[in-house]
Amino acid sequence: MLAAKKILLGVCGGIAVYKAVELVSRLRREGAAVKVIMTGSALKFVSQLTFREISGNPVAASMWADIPVYNVEHIALAEWADALVIAPATANVLAKLASGIADDMLTTTALAVKAPIILCPAMNTNMYENPVTQSNLEKLAARGLKIIQPASGRLACGTYGAGRLPEPIDIVQEIDDYLRGGSMSGLKVVVTAGGTIEPVDPVRYIGNRSSGKMGYAIAGEAVRRGAGTVLVSGPSSLPVPPGVTAIKVETAVEMKDAVLAEYGDADILIKAAAVADYRVKDICAAKIKKKEETLTLELVKNPDILKELGRLKTKQYLVGFAAETDNLVENARVKIKEKNLDMIVANDVSMPGAGFNHDTNIVKFIYPSGEIVSMEKASKQEIAAKLLDQISAAISSRPERDSQGC
Ligand code: CTP
Repeated sequence: MLAAKKILLGVCGGIAVYKAVELVSRLRREGAAVKVIMTGSALKFVSQLTFREISGNPVAASMWADIPVYNVEHIALAEWADALVIAPATANVLAKLASGIADDMLTTTALAVKAPIILCPAMNTNMYENPVTQSNLEKLAARGLKIIQPASGRLACGTYGAGRLPEPIDIVQEIDDYLRGGSMSGLKVVVTAGGTIEPVDPVRYIGNRSSGKMGYAIAGEAVRRGAGTVLVSGPSSLPVPPGVTAIKVETAVEMKDAVLAEYGDADILIKAAAVADYRVKDICAAKIKKKEETLTLELVKNPDILKELGRLKTKQYLVGFAAETDNLVENARVKIKEKNLDMIVANDVSMPGAGFNHDTNIVKFIYPSGEIVSMEKASKQEIAAKLLDQISAAISSRPERDSQGC
């Protein structure tokens, strides 16, 4: 993937700059052309000469330097790049990028770049974990920038924790994976999101706490990877990600009809919605008045949409979610079997930072084989990306696809 790609590498000032030198070398060994922009702080750690020699190209560091051939250099670099990678990305540069500040060659170029931007944050653990840095990273991820998670371990400042720049070999792998962004083109992905609501009378309904954040993040990621993406969503105030076809529904029965209509030619179906298990048997045509001291509503079971999809499954890769408060893995495994799933994303909604309405979640990807891939607490965007990586890997290793030469 990297052969003949033009990678613009932004290098910020941090002790991990030395690893960026190796990163350039590895990218070039993969066949990429590399140009480097250094910030003023990066120049305090390593000279421009080092990156010029290792990249084989002049290094840009100042907006005001004399240049041999006249062009508007930050625009020319932005247009040249197939991807902008910033490694190490300091807290300061992340904050500037999150708020659109353009006060040096790197941040100015970053604003002008249309190609994908990949950030490799590296800094002291406390700086990384500081809510302002986390919120900047979330903002940038929500805008579609790819964040490569820092590694954990002993940092140059003597502390232990997250904040190390990952090894260059791993960064190259992640860049390569990400630039395969079109890897889902030609596939149809259907995602359900949000909670269904079940009417009681013209003004009331039974609902749940689902915000739709997980499903919307998955739909956004699928479309970024080139998939034709349909989002069947219960009521949600979230904006529909650009490029996604949204079908809005309210009740479980409406969701079932919408999903079944999209299922036949779907390649992947991801059921992140929190479907109401029951609906009111007799919906009152008029508003219920508060005459009695108690009120009893009779509920009837809703169709289990996912189970029905499992029954009808032909070629589709079918993924469910399991929201549990206890016996996470056992309950999730029962659902895989009962609903004929290819994978279930299990999350313990009682854990802090997990489940409904949070920006983060803690999930395990569980397969029918019993294999479990666990993720640490991560943003829903990161989980969406990892989920689609897992699905893509599973689909490409399917024997029937190999035999069709796919
Ligand atoms: N699901 C569905 N239709 C339903 C209920 C659930 O399609 N009527 C799907 C959800 O979208 C999710 C998966 O089934 O992908 C598991 O949902 P969950 O609420 O965890 O479990 P349930 O099957 O509803 O079982 P229980 O509530 O007893 O745990």
